[in-house]
Amino acid sequence: MSDLLSLIRPEIRELSAYHVADAAGLVKLDAMENPYEWDMSLRNAWLEHLKSVNLNRYPHPHAPAVKAGLREVMDIPPGMEIMLGNGSDEILQILLMALARPGATVLAVEPCFVMYRFVARFAGMEYVGVPLNDDFSLHTEAVLAAIAVHRPAVIFLAEPNNPTGNKYDPQAVRAIIEASPGFVVLDEAYLPFTDGDAMPLLQVYPNVLVMRTLSKVGLAGLRLGFLVGRPDVLGELEKIRLPYNINILSQASAEFALAHYAVFQEQATRIRAERSRLFEGLSRLPGWSIFPSEANFILARTPGGQAKAIFAALKAKGILIKILDGAHPLLGDCLRFTVGLPEENDAVLKILQELS
Ligand SMILES: Cc1ncc(COP(=O)(O)O)c(C=O)c1O
Repeated sequence: MSDLLSLIRPEIRELSAYHVADAAGLVKLDAMENPYEWDMSLRNAWLEHLKSVNLNRYPHPHAPAVKAGLREVMDIPPGMEIMLGNGSDEILQILLMALARPGATVLAVEPCFVMYRFVARFAGMEYVGVPLNDDFSLHTEAVLAAIAVHRPAVIFLAEPNNPTGNKYDPQAVRAIIEASPGFVVLDEAYLPFTDGDAMPLLQVYPNVLVMRTLSKVGLAGLRLGFLVGRPDVLGELEKIRLPYNINILSQASAEFALAHYAVFQEQATRIRAERSRLFEGLSRLPGWSIFPSEANFILARTPGGQAKAIFAALKAKGILIKILDGAHPLLGDCLRFTVGLPEENDAVLKILQELS
């Protein structure tokens, strides 16, 4: 058996699998999901729509109806192509498989979405993480210096960033794009909760790619992410995408959901209002620092050394959040709260007030 395992690349054996916390029976405020469920009339209309799906057939390999729906509701510039992935995680995997060659480097600013580093490892690429400033703004000089040394094949910038919730100075982002010898992926997973977007940059900079997902707006269970970019670049990536990566139920459901996108936009507006309320409540906790957020979660720093105990106390009361203390040197004493339903946010604040 050990001989068989030795066939597996050492860098894979060194990794720990991506850990998803067991949320059974808990209020889930750990994974940036939209807490609002569909009302019965929408559910019934969706189920009606699914009646036309023939599971005996393979799905359409290019999902044209889904792409048309995305063009209806997103500001995708004319002339740009779309590639669909089973979540944006799969887009990362496809992109890095295409770029992986000996010595090729992925650069990201940290703390950031951990999958950039994970997938770089799977793909056998080098990974460089450049720390953000203490306030999570870009340390532009450090990034430019790292670009000059490592000449990365791709740079990832999430706007807004996970787990910090902020967006970056647009001038700094442009400077990084202009200095980059490779691709720059602007990851807009949290776009529904902020204003402005990166699509206009696609027409200015040929090395920019924009990645989005339907997960955070309210369709996490669907697993649909997408990449927007130049047709010649996406044409190459399409060669790696497996032909039926978006299954027939996902295609039909996405088509339906995109036709009802206003429902999700309205929910995102409510989540933004709840975010303000949660922010104000957290800000009143003595000794805490709360970081402004343009996403559907809030990063907060507890008084020194208390993060683990507070995480455990919330869990004991049935609420699961994300503990980030220890995940990165800049995240000491940090917890991340996904914005939940009003009553869930109230429950969080009540418990935290009692603990303070
Ligand atoms: C910045 C960022 N990008 C991408 C993703 C992945 O999204 P998906 O559900 O589409 O795989 C996440 C998920 O948390 C994220 O935080």
